Amino acid sequence: MAANVVVGVGGGIAAYKVAQVVRDLVRAGHDVTVVPTPASLAFVGAATWEALSAHRVHTGVFEAGGADHVEIARRAEVVLIAPATADLLARLRLGMADDLLTATVLAASCPVVVAPAMHTAMWENPATRDNVLTLRQRGITVVDPAEGALSSGDSGVGRLPDPEHLVRAALETLAAHPLARDGQDIQAQRPLAGVRILLSAGGTREPIDPVRYLGNRSSGRQGAALARVARRRGALVTLVAANVDPALVPAGVELVQAPSARDMEREVSARLADTDVLVMAAAVADFRPVHVSDQKIKKDPTTRQAPTLELERTPDILATATRDAHRPHVVVGFAAETGTEEEVLERGRQKALRKGADLLAVNAVGEGRGFGDVENTLHVLDRQGHPVVTLTGSKETLAEGLLSQVQALLGTMSR
Ligand code: C5P
Repeated sequence: MAANVVVGVGGGIAAYKVAQVVRDLVRAGHDVTVVPTPASLAFVGAATWEALSAHRVHTGVFEAGGADHVEIARRAEVVLIAPATADLLARLRLGMADDLLTATVLAASCPVVVAPAMHTAMWENPATRDNVLTLRQRGITVVDPAEGALSSGDSGVGRLPDPEHLVRAALETLAAHPLARDGQDIQAQRPLAGVRILLSAGGTREPIDPVRYLGNRSSGRQGAALARVARRRGALVTLVAANVDPALVPAGVELVQAPSARDMEREVSARLADTDVLVMAAAVADFRPVHVSDQKIKKDPTTRQAPTLELERTPDILATATRDAHRPHVVVGFAAETGTEEEVLERGRQKALRKGADLLAVNAVGEGRGFGDVENTLHVLDRQGHPVVTLTGSKETLAEGLLSQVQALLGTMSR
């Protein structure tokens, strides 16, 4: 279906590749408005964009004599910015509105896709990395630059991806957006459209001193798979992540860092009132050191003695959430259990009764089972601990099965 696409062009040499992007979008029937930054006109002039898009092209906020940025933003269904220079990323991150493009992005409520292109050193600079991370955390899709020859004569990461790649990124992001317009099909294709899902993932680390912690083996892959599937089904996903590799976090997901149980408790409880579905896939530590030393704990050279760590229980975030005044409509917990299949199920049943979650996903761990990139089995239990379904497969397959159970519960509530 034809969409209103805004193509923002930044002031980099790769701007010429974007002419192909505009041409391909127009040929595919989309209505394209090109908004170049003033600096980008040194690379590709307004006449090119006007000829390709068949629309007038402006770079300043008041050039058209009115609130052009508000009008363009209102019509836009997706904004694609390419090439995004380091300067443009910084301006977007700061929420500046000093030209028509940045003002339009600020006024837009549609999905935004940003394709950076710059020299490797600028891309890898902590300032740029920080800007990219922040933009991703706000739900903006940042397409990673490609690797290869750069205009400086160097070679490395920083090239603008091919036009087809950019067109696909823009249209896929548009399609995954809950406000995408495809009428009656929206429920079938995106059964979680507009549902606010708060997911926790990863394993918490409980500090002992500035360099040491008590941790666990959770990789965050199951949580990342849940985030990906939920996003694909149209949900608005916030991932509260405890030490999860950022590369695992799918585009379009709001990322909140919560390295310790204390951080996770704070970040989850602050969001309960704005959450429809809570899925606690994180391995939250059950115990943490009572005292955290502010200096690295030293070996005593005169004795062979080792320090004794005094531990305390952490609050049970899941059990607290199920009793909260702002309890989300559906709450899902995870339980990693060791032992035989029967023992695992029995422990899961007891836990289901204790936690008060609508669903408890129980998996057997240990001896190479459960952690990392492996296939596993998940027994889904209801609130009383009765088995609902057993799922087997990749973490993505398990995420699909579990979210279908969540959908079924949401469905019974709305009836
Ligand atoms: O009691 P157990 O740690 O096995 O419970 C696992 C479930 O409870 C998971 O969903 C986990 O995210 C959650 N949990 C929690 N707060 C804790 C410990 C676990 O929310 N302190």
